[in-house]
This record gives sequence, C-alpha cells and structure tokens, in this order.
Amino acid sequence: MTTTESGHPADGHEPSDTVADGLGSNGAEAGPHERGTPVALPAVRPDDPHLQPAAQHPVRVSNIIVVSFLIGIAGMVGFGYFYWTNDSPWKLGLSLGVGLTLLGFGLTAWGKYLMPQGPFVEERHDLSSSQAERDAMAAALTQRTGLVMKRRGVLGGLLAAGLAVFGVVIMFPLLRSLGPLPKKTLTQTNWRKGSLLVDSDGRAIHVGSMVPGGIQTVFPAGYENNDQTASQDQTVLIRLLAPVPPYDWSPDGYIAYSKLCTHLGCPVGLYEQELELLVCPCHQSMFKVAEKGVPEFGPAPRPLPQLPLQIDSSGYLRAAAGYDQPVGPGYWER
Ligand code: FES
Repeated sequence: MTTTESGHPADGHEPSDTVADGLGSNGAEAGPHERGTPVALPAVRPDDPHLQPAAQHPVRVSNIIVVSFLIGIAGMVGFGYFYWTNDSPWKLGLSLGVGLTLLGFGLTAWGKYLMPQGPFVEERHDLSSSQAERDAMAAALTQRTGLVMKRRGVLGGLLAAGLAVFGVVIMFPLLRSLGPLPKKTLTQTNWRKGSLLVDSDGRAIHVGSMVPGGIQTVFPAGYENNDQTASQDQTVLIRLLAPVPPYDWSPDGYIAYSKLCTHLGCPVGLYEQELELLVCPCHQSMFKVAEKGVPEFGPAPRPLPQLPLQIDSSGYLRAAAGYDQPVGPGYWER
C-alpha cells in the first residue's frame, strides 16, 4: 500500500487501526456492548479547510450565540410566567416573540457559522456490472425461464382476456352512474293528438275554468306525476282575450307552449299579462305569446314550441297534435 507523507494511505482511507468507535477491522476487538459490522472511516486531517467553521472569529460568534440563547430563554421563561399569571396580551406576545426570535437566531447562526463549511463530496462507486457478471446473469435467465418462455403465449392470452373483461366490467358503474338512458325524450314528449290537458293534480282543464289573462302548467293526462318525463311534458297554458294566428291552434283564446326555455331549459313560468310575454327567470329571455312564442329579448335562440289545442265535445281542452319539434334547449343535432 502506498502512503502519503503524513502517513495516510494514498486511497484516502485510514489503516485498519482507525476504524469507527474503536471497533477492530475484523470485529473481534469490539467491546462487549458493541454490535455491528466494523466500518472504516475516511481519513480526515484536522486542518482540512472543509471542516473549518465558516466564521472568521468563531469565538466571537459563539459568544453572540450564547447571549442570543440566554435572552431567548429569558423570553420563554417570561412568556411562561405571563401566561401563568394571565397577564396582558402584549406581554405575552412580546415575550414569546423575543424568545422565539432569539432562539431561532442562535440556532441559525450556529448552523451557518460554527459548523464545518463543507462542501462534502462522496465518490460514488461504479454502478455498472462487469461483462462477466452480465454473462452469468444472461445464462441464469436462459436456464431458469425455459418453462416461462414456452407458456408465454398462454399467459399473454389470459392477461389480455382479463384486461378485456376488466375493461367491460368497469363500464358498468359508469353507465349506471349516468342515470337512465334518455331514450327518445330528447326528441319526443308524451303529448299526442287527443291528449287531455290536466293540471299537476290530474284535474282536466275545462274551457270555462280559466279567465282571460290566466296561466297554469298542464301535462298530458296520465303523465302529470311521471318524474322521468314531467320536465319535457310540462306545458304552460294561457288564456288570451281572443284566438291568435294560427287561429285553429288557440281555440277560445287558449294557447299553450312548452315550459322548457329554449336557452338552457329553465321553466318559463312568468307571464307578463299586459305585454303578453312569457319570461324566463334564469336569463330573462322573453317570448311573445301572441306571436308563436318568438323571442323578444334575451339569449334564447328560437321560439318556444307551441302545442296546438282543440276543445272536445264535452268542453275539455285536448292537444290537437303533439309538439312538432323537440322541446327545450338545442343540442348537438340542432
Ligand atoms: Fe331561459 Fe337562459 S334558461 S333564458
């Protein structure tokens, strides 16, 4: 082994008699209460500049830190006393602030100015395997994985099948979480030719049951309490003073429009009687009742769909046909 002039080995390691904590290089010389593998420590010279404190005057800095700690301790003691005696908040705050600040200052200065300044670098050993080690590993894999290699196709197929089943099954909660399928509700309502107009309690609407200027929400008979379809079926029925064009759609001044706003689907339930406007409360779209429900104001892009009406031989209001277009806001096909 080559050594330097100072007697240290050229590879930077101490001889075996400088091992950690008095443990011998072979462990046999360790004390009766010591355990573990003996580890040799790198040689360190006391005058190594990396081990010197950063401060140029360590003694002076250490005195400052001592004073800082003492005042900090006094602050914490004061805080304890003031807290115990339930003294005024400003004393509590001041003593705690002084205590924490000076203790923190001392601790920071200690680490910054009195500890070895470093930097410390440890060489990393070579991580790559030798060619002989790589050859041995390749031979072992070839020898031991012969069975696996033969069954790779089976395992791969099973894995693919498992993933496929998993992919299908994982769709189940996704589909169920989306609620019932909309089916034809995007394009159709339950209004048909001859559907009897009823209120939410199922009472049929007679031609004499509303005065001019009156308004109410109606449904096709049999669907007034259907939670799945009520939102599409809800229709606002208004009685005007006289029929309006198309005249055969508004007998005796009764006129009906879908209650779903064509903007975003809010219920259009407000009626401005004098101006004959239906108003959506969400974004203030206004629809002309006497002019086929065309928007007068607001973001609604198209008229409210109108339900043609007729009066049967008993004087009850019925639909002359279903809606001739989808109700509610536009969607991807509109
Ligand atoms: Fe009716 Fe926006 S939803 S105006």
